[in-house]
Amino acid sequence: MLVGLDIGRQYIKIVAMNKTKDGYKLLDAGQRLVPEPNQAFDPDKIDTHHWVMAIKELLKQQNLNPKKIKLIATGISGASASVKQITTMEMPAEELESAMTFEARKHIPMDGTDAVIDYQILGSNEKEVDKIDVSLVACTKGVLTSHIDLLKESGLKPGVIDADPIAITNSFTYLKDMPSEGLAVILDIGALSSSLIVWGNGQQYFTRDLPIGGHQFVKEIVDKKDISYTEAQDILFKEGVASIIKNEANEDKTTLGVAERSVYDNLIEDLRRSLRFYAKQTGQSFFLKILLTGGAAGTPGLAGLISSKLNIDCDILNPFDGFDGADSLNQETPSQYVLAMGLCIRAGME
Ligand SMILES: Nc1ncnc2c1ncn2[C@@H]1O[C@H](COP(=O)(O)OP(=O)(O)OP(=O)(O)O)[C@@H](O)[C@H]1O
Ligand SMILES: [Mg+2]
Repeated sequence: MLVGLDIGRQYIKIVAMNKTKDGYKLLDAGQRLVPEPNQAFDPDKIDTHHWVMAIKELLKQQNLNPKKIKLIATGISGASASVKQITTMEMPAEELESAMTFEARKHIPMDGTDAVIDYQILGSNEKEVDKIDVSLVACTKGVLTSHIDLLKESGLKPGVIDADPIAITNSFTYLKDMPSEGLAVILDIGALSSSLIVWGNGQQYFTRDLPIGGHQFVKEIVDKKDISYTEAQDILFKEGVASIIKNEANEDKTTLGVAERSVYDNLIEDLRRSLRFYAKQTGQSFFLKILLTGGAAGTPGLAGLISSKLNIDCDILNPFDGFDGADSLNQETPSQYVLAMGLCIRAGME
């Protein structure tokens, strides 16, 4: 049994699969809250102990025996790791190693420990002679060590450790056929932040963390309606973006003042700016589609709002759609499992 374990800041998600002749068969998928249920989610109150407990409870809840796991894959979040495509001079392996370490230090939040890097030469750069494209993944030793310690404390053998944006991309490329031209945009909307990924065949890979997630969606309802966190969450899941943004026909009932920007406007503005940045850097702006993943992707009306504001098709990615073994699963928010599935697929590549 292969397992992908997504250790999110609000929910732990797990996907178990077996490798088959022509791919994978899904065995199980499940999730568990990290904080106490029926309380306001306060990210500052979550520590290692809560994650360890939640992982152990989730394994129990899903009836998964850690001893039966052949290989487990977990991820380091896009906020603590850096995934970059870099163009650099062609140079001997040893020099490249130190150049990449130097480069990595610029992109990760340093914490007094060394940078840990992993890189792959993609090939010669198309535009500049003597230059090569390299994909670089990096985090600090401190981040990696505490991640491994967390897994061990939870009774698991660390296995494969990937970077979250790469695992999400793996899930996507496994599930979807991409035309040879054009770019896919993936936005994983978690609890505290969102991971943006731009990917296309032979195109520059790009990822960035946007500081808005479902927790901010809930908090805006709490502030505007002066109600409790759990009540606000219920409203969000039922009414979605309409709980804050009323349609123009009922303008006098608008919860927000005209000049006030909603949390959704801010997220969409961040997205617009990032895509503009990508287009400027690469000269490519043929965005085929935006796919939403993560728990908050399911916010009613959000995909439609993004699509109408940015004028790009937007859909929610359901990783179970048509997947072997998915029929027997009953999952309320399939989009929440895209990362765990990508991690599981990664375990299968070993
Ligand atoms: N049906 C739903 N409609 C809207 N939002 C939802 C729904 N179900 C879950 N959410 C939201 O999804 C978020 C959790 O998603 P997810 O599990 O992807 O986050 P996480 O991985 O724990 O967080 P992060 O990625 O920031 O560490 C929460 O903010 C929750 O309110
Ligand atoms: Mg997440």
